[in-house]
Amino acid sequence: MKNICVLVSGGGTNLQALIDAQDRGEIKGGRISCVISSNPGAYALERAKKAGITSVVIPRKEYSDSKTYSEAILEELNRQKADLVVLAGFMIILDECVTKAYDYKIINVHPALIPSFCGEGFYGLRVHEKALEYGVKVSGATIHFVNEKADAGAIILQGTVDVANDDTPETLQKKIMENVEWKLLPKAVSLFCEGRITIKDGKAYVD
Ligand code: GAR
Repeated sequence: MKNICVLVSGGGTNLQALIDAQDRGEIKGGRISCVISSNPGAYALERAKKAGITSVVIPRKEYSDSKTYSEAILEELNRQKADLVVLAGFMIILDECVTKAYDYKIINVHPALIPSFCGEGFYGLRVHEKALEYGVKVSGATIHFVNEKADAGAIILQGTVDVANDDTPETLQKKIMENVEWKLLPKAVSLFCEGRITIKDGKAYVD
């Protein structure tokens, strides 16, 4: 069984999707052993508690820069003996001390079709605001490995939704979460734990 550590910062609906999938027996070969939050007030912590999952708070505010914060995260991941790290609405870009130590072992969910609307500054509702501002007719979410560049690691899965003329950032976010994120994130986690993801020339392939 692989030890899965889930990193969160906010509401935790993606964490909930992982917990629900685990309860249905859909995470094969892994179990969520720990939730780490950058935000002491994150509702995701309540979700972890309800599910009986250990949680640890490492407040971003208590660290002066990204490097020292990432070192604290790395220490905790090592203590938890993480086999897989899942960024589920984790709003902080991790320093390469973490991405190098957990190369191809960190999975992120991004609420757009990478390489569009991604990278530094593109997170949460902002991503959907930008997609609507541009006028795209489809959007979606991407599940990818995390490397030293923001949202630039190998893509594992992507899914799309149609954008309606009257979509707002909020309705588009909800549509993408319900139809793509909450389905594909647990699926990718299970594929990883089952050893069904292969890396070749920096790209990820699912068998
Ligand atoms: C999700 O839409 C997730 O894709 C996005 O934030 C939301 C978190 O929701 N993540 C990012 O923008 C990361 N760049 P949740 O806390 O309810 O899972």
